[in-house]
Amino acid sequence: MAKSLTSRFAHPGENVRTLLSAARIQKRIRELAAQIRKDFPGEQLHLVGVLKGAAFFLSDLARNIPGDVSFDFIAVSSYGKETKSSGQVRLTRDLDSSIDGRTVIVVEDILDTGVTLNYLLRIFQQRKPKHLRVAVLLDKPERRITPVRADYVGFTIPNEFVVGFGLDYAERYRNLPSVGVLSFTSLKKKAHG
Ligand code: IMP
Ligand code: MG
Repeated sequence: MAKSLTSRFAHPGENVRTLLSAARIQKRIRELAAQIRKDFPGEQLHLVGVLKGAAFFLSDLARNIPGDVSFDFIAVSSYGKETKSSGQVRLTRDLDSSIDGRTVIVVEDILDTGVTLNYLLRIFQQRKPKHLRVAVLLDKPERRITPVRADYVGFTIPNEFVVGFGLDYAERYRNLPSVGVLSFTSLKKKAHG
């Protein structure tokens, strides 16, 4: 029997149950890209991706927005090896260029507690962009502890730990083309709180 996509990517003792297929993700990204361009017709759009999780979302989004698009990346420290957040955010890589006067779309893989985006939005706001918007592939509203809203949301998902399409568990599964719920089949315990 042919192995399923997720089982070909899964690590021993771990299981990934598909939540969003690669095709569904691509279709939704095309819709988001069209919406973003519709909201800012003729403007130069500057996408700011949060490394590393947003890398694939940003690259697919950018290629589907017609017209003038540039992008940059920022990196923050987030989850370590565990599936729960330390609750602390630290800037580990800043932008290459100024966002003063630009129309900026912050591109993030997932909006979870909101701590990361809240921190980044405060920093970016101080740098005087013309417009500041947020695009997230996934939104887990149940987990929110800081009030943050995304302007563009790919999918609203339940409170489960997901991997794939840039999202990792201990740096693994980012290369999975779909998004799935991670579970542990062996003695390993789930640490998501
Ligand atoms: P927040 O600061 O809690 O909103 O978390 C944002 C970051 O936590 C994301 O950029 C992800 O890197 C990570 N994260 C949150 N939920 C998940 C998940 O279900 N799977 C993998 N990473 C996650
Ligand atoms: Mg992460």
